[in-house]
Amino acid sequence: MSRIKKCVIPAAGMGKRLYPLTRGQPKEMLPILNKPVIHYVVDEAIRSGVDEILMVVGAGKEAIINYFDRHKMDDELDANGEYNFPDIYFVRQKEQKGLADAISYARNFTGDEDFLVLLGDTIYRSDDSLTVTSHLLKTYHRIAKPLIALEEIPYDDVMNYGIIGGEETEPGIVRIDKFVEKPNKMDAPSNLGITGIYILQNEIYDFIEVTKPGKNGELQLTDSLGMMLKNQEIYGERINGKRYDIGSLDLWIRTFITFAKEKGY
Ligand code: G1P
Repeated sequence: MSRIKKCVIPAAGMGKRLYPLTRGQPKEMLPILNKPVIHYVVDEAIRSGVDEILMVVGAGKEAIINYFDRHKMDDELDANGEYNFPDIYFVRQKEQKGLADAISYARNFTGDEDFLVLLGDTIYRSDDSLTVTSHLLKTYHRIAKPLIALEEIPYDDVMNYGIIGGEETEPGIVRIDKFVEKPNKMDAPSNLGITGIYILQNEIYDFIEVTKPGKNGELQLTDSLGMMLKNQEIYGERINGKRYDIGSLDLWIRTFITFAKEKGY
């Protein structure tokens, strides 16, 4: 099985939970210390061995595209080549129709290759020297089945996540038998939430094509994955590290404070 070389980063959501901050800027450009969140996401992809990135952007997300230009201060200030990004492609989602729709724009980019998806609003920190994503890639190469990152979520928060049901087949690894997008506490099949790293094969596009609007009237990736379960096994793995989601005001502020304290501010 060949190495995963391509990463799709959907950065097309409206940022409703961060309104009014997101009236004039994309949530992916919110700072965590001196870098926008999207920069951390690109670092995670590169450090996990990816060479090519496609970002799916939408209306009002132009600041993200500008950020990855070569900047005139790079020669002077970027001594470590930290801003020497790999090739980043951009495609515009025509309408904000949901995560599954955003991913469908990657079809030509990924072609026949298996690919990685990292959500544009989540930062990962591993417990060891490998990235959180690299751990998943290792498992993926062993089991050769679509694999998604999971984390235990307090039951009071399950309505903010895609939640899975399934059976643990080995420590930390679950064979998934159910996907529910943002369930009520009562309907949640477990408290294992989807954190935003997906390793997928190109069959997913066929299922996205026939996905109907689901939760909040959007085309939900969890619904496409749920349909795919009828044809093939999908696995989840608990992440080996921490996830910092900046999708709502309290989460963003908490992440900022955690990172700032670590730097001694
Ligand atoms: C998306 C997915 C959801 C997942 C979450 C992780 O939701 O639809 O399944 O658990 O990302 O952050 P969103 O946060 O975009 O509403």
